Amino acid sequence: MHDIIEQLEKKRAAARLGGGEKRIAAQHSKGKLTARERLELLLDEGTFEEWDMFVEHRCHDFGMQDNKIPGDGVVTGYGMINGRLVFVYSQDFTVFGGALSEAHAEKICKVMDQAMKVGAPVIGLNDSGGARIQEGVASLGGYAEVFQRNVMASGVVPQISMIMGPSAGGAVYSPAMTDFIFMVKDSSYMFVTGPEVVKTVTHEEVTSEELGGATTHTTKSGVADLAFDNDVDALLMLRRFYNYLPLNNREKAPVRPSHDPADRIDLSLDTLVPDNPNKPYDIKELIVKCADDGEFFELQPGYAQNIVIGFCRMEGQTVGVVANQPLVLAGCLDIKSSIKAARFVRFCDAFNIPIVTYVDVPGFMPGTSQEFGGIIKHGAKLLYAYAECTVPKITVITRKAYGGAYDVMASKHLRGDVNFAWPNAEIAVMGAKGAVEIIFREEKSDPAKLAAREAEYKAKFANPFVAGARGFIDDVIQPHETRKRICRSLVMLRNKKVENPWRKHGNIPL
Ligand code: HXC
Repeated sequence: MHDIIEQLEKKRAAARLGGGEKRIAAQHSKGKLTARERLELLLDEGTFEEWDMFVEHRCHDFGMQDNKIPGDGVVTGYGMINGRLVFVYSQDFTVFGGALSEAHAEKICKVMDQAMKVGAPVIGLNDSGGARIQEGVASLGGYAEVFQRNVMASGVVPQISMIMGPSAGGAVYSPAMTDFIFMVKDSSYMFVTGPEVVKTVTHEEVTSEELGGATTHTTKSGVADLAFDNDVDALLMLRRFYNYLPLNNREKAPVRPSHDPADRIDLSLDTLVPDNPNKPYDIKELIVKCADDGEFFELQPGYAQNIVIGFCRMEGQTVGVVANQPLVLAGCLDIKSSIKAARFVRFCDAFNIPIVTYVDVPGFMPGTSQEFGGIIKHGAKLLYAYAECTVPKITVITRKAYGGAYDVMASKHLRGDVNFAWPNAEIAVMGAKGAVEIIFREEKSDPAKLAAREAEYKAKFANPFVAGARGFIDDVIQPHETRKRICRSLVMLRNKKVENPWRKHGNIPL
């Protein structure tokens, strides 16, 4: 027995070594940790239960029959993050460049299947050269098996991808179907076709970093949610992020007790909105001042900055925040911001996370680029997402709520549960100036008359009381008591139950 135990330990040690010391040193020299080192940082100490450490590929071509490394380029299993279960896979670039073989895919599928059975999230640490070239279609089949599971798990358990190296070709589509994509700056990239192919086909010269690095995907494409400076930072932030999420779609997110009083008032909010309605202010100030302990975990901060999304806690409960940002494009809704917010709303809805929406929106962005780009279809995504959503929805209009954008931003009519407005709110079809220029067009040549009309329109509509008179606004509240009023509403809504009619699935405009 002693010998057998020793043999087992030897086998384990060989598997732990992955592609060997030289390749581990090469990995380190690129500023990257190994697959196992990453899991050690991500999971609570000593909680990792590894599966399939002895799995090997089954390829006999191109000399592969004599080149087998136990584990086959991916470390899989489960463990805990702050005491909560999580299934993980971590691709090992030191083994065949982390390339995905049939066996490698089977290992990933096994943890995904188990995660679905027990109702726990899946985190993938991606660092892979893509399909295992020696295996051909067997590898492609392996990818498709993973894709199918990504889709089946969508809305059932949270799925998170951390891109920590290459992710190229069709391989990008597994992360793309997960709920969140995070990347590491300077060492990760994602693209469907690499710089060489781009050069051949379109004659564009572009580096991997420019084409698909973390900065590109967090500022230009919106593919990734956040970029971190290095592996350590990324994994520690991922642990923090994980705390906001429920384990599955039948559970609520964990409650983190806070000493921050729910009825805390903040008098500085009374002067947050400038007197001049055309002057911007930073909506993040409001988000942070209303959140427990001033903590806000923002997602996609560098992309479509005219809308802000992210998680905070209110009385310990996870809340998804969506907010127009008057600092950027005056907070207008456009294609990118609609898509960004719509996907976030759908995540919150799928996973029982209440949504607080802060509204200051002058409307949809005009222009040919928006119309030609399909703002009709893309704006409808956000409308659809809010309308379909059944989790508690609390809306606070801080200033403008104009036109179609008023309807879209979690209005009463889209089943907003509690809709508040600040006393300075302007809820109307459009701003007073634009309105009188249309309805009193014939008086355009008389500026004094037009100004009087504008003042009249403003007095009539640039306030929250017309909407309040119809019950579209539940109450007009003092800015300083916003946190208190949201917290109370969340308590009232704790057991909210609304079911949408049975259907196979809706047909969201894509
Ligand atoms: C098998 C691979 C591999 C792959 C890398 N390796 N990619 N082995 N299949 N796809 C091996 C290399 O042979 C090398 O082995 C080791 O991994 C490290 O690779 P290097 O090239 O030395 O590393 P680096 O210089 O950092 O470059 C990394 C890389 C490059 C940019 C990822 O290896 C590369 O371009 N690989 C091919 C990428 C690719 O075309 N993949 C297929 C994409 S299509 P040794 O033994 O020397 O250490 C795809 C389709 C999926 O994925 C479709 C799903 C629908």
